[in-house]
Amino acid sequence: MTKILIATEKPFSVVAVEGIKQATDAAGYELVKLEKYTDKQQLLEAVADADALIVRSDKVDAEVFDAARNLKIVVRAGAGYDNVDLDAATAHGVVVMNTPGQNANSVAELVFGLLVFGVRNFFNGTSGTELMGKKLGILAFGNVGRNVARVAKGFGMEVYAYDAFCPAEVIEEAGVTPVAGRDELFRLCDVVSLHIPATPETRKSIGYELVGLMKKGGILVNTARKEVIDEEGLLRLMEERSDLKYLTDIRPEADEKFREKVADRYFATPKKMGAQTAEANINAGIAAARQIIAFLKEGCTKFQVNK
Ligand code: 3PG
Repeated sequence: MTKILIATEKPFSVVAVEGIKQATDAAGYELVKLEKYTDKQQLLEAVADADALIVRSDKVDAEVFDAARNLKIVVRAGAGYDNVDLDAATAHGVVVMNTPGQNANSVAELVFGLLVFGVRNFFNGTSGTELMGKKLGILAFGNVGRNVARVAKGFGMEVYAYDAFCPAEVIEEAGVTPVAGRDELFRLCDVVSLHIPATPETRKSIGYELVGLMKKGGILVNTARKEVIDEEGLLRLMEERSDLKYLTDIRPEADEKFREKVADRYFATPKKMGAQTAEANINAGIAAARQIIAFLKEGCTKFQVNK
């Protein structure tokens, strides 16, 4: 029997797993779960006879592909697939897909959860500020960026965006003002929200110089990837400029140093939780199951990312 493995160190909601199971049952496949695993060995064992694999931010590297002798497809239930070794997948003849857009609203809502918390001084009882009328800069105008723009308008914010790969007209059509580059975005906006993927080009690309362009009281929100931050540079800047805040749902490597040195202007959620809602889990999890079924039954490779 065709075996679909869900391997999630950070599990989906129960209702999402039920939905995935309904889809895989109807297709005549066996669904196996490996949740909250703590050791890579558990994943290597579980994947040994799996035909398909659904993951979230779980690391799927060459060792996993070596161990997965029957594997034909991996779907990252979510947007960013930097956790999957695409070259190793291709070398093993395995198709890799993501589920773009499925968890975008969830991440966008968290951006505003973090922001309200930030501008109200972490709910410490002191007088804060409002978001209405402030300038929001969106760095990368993909699915999450677009949802952030939509919600920002509800708050009455002025919305700007820069995306190296998205034409200015597309940004404009969404009712957002495009700017010419990253520097301009940081210089212009009161808040900058990051939505860039982690790639060799973006790694450590947000640090001292760029964030240093922000005006007094600037807030940087990161619900993208911790790897895009030059943590040393950002920390140095925040020590020099006591007006800046950093809010994130991806705890930096230097979390302790941030807490020690800029505690009152830094907040990181204990776990990455942008996409941690029942709705996002249902959307992304069931999309992943459907994509696997369409691939195994009909050879559909829409959403393949390792072409
Ligand atoms: C994504 O890339 O889809 C988000 O970062 C969500 O990641 P998660 O599934 O690990 O919460």
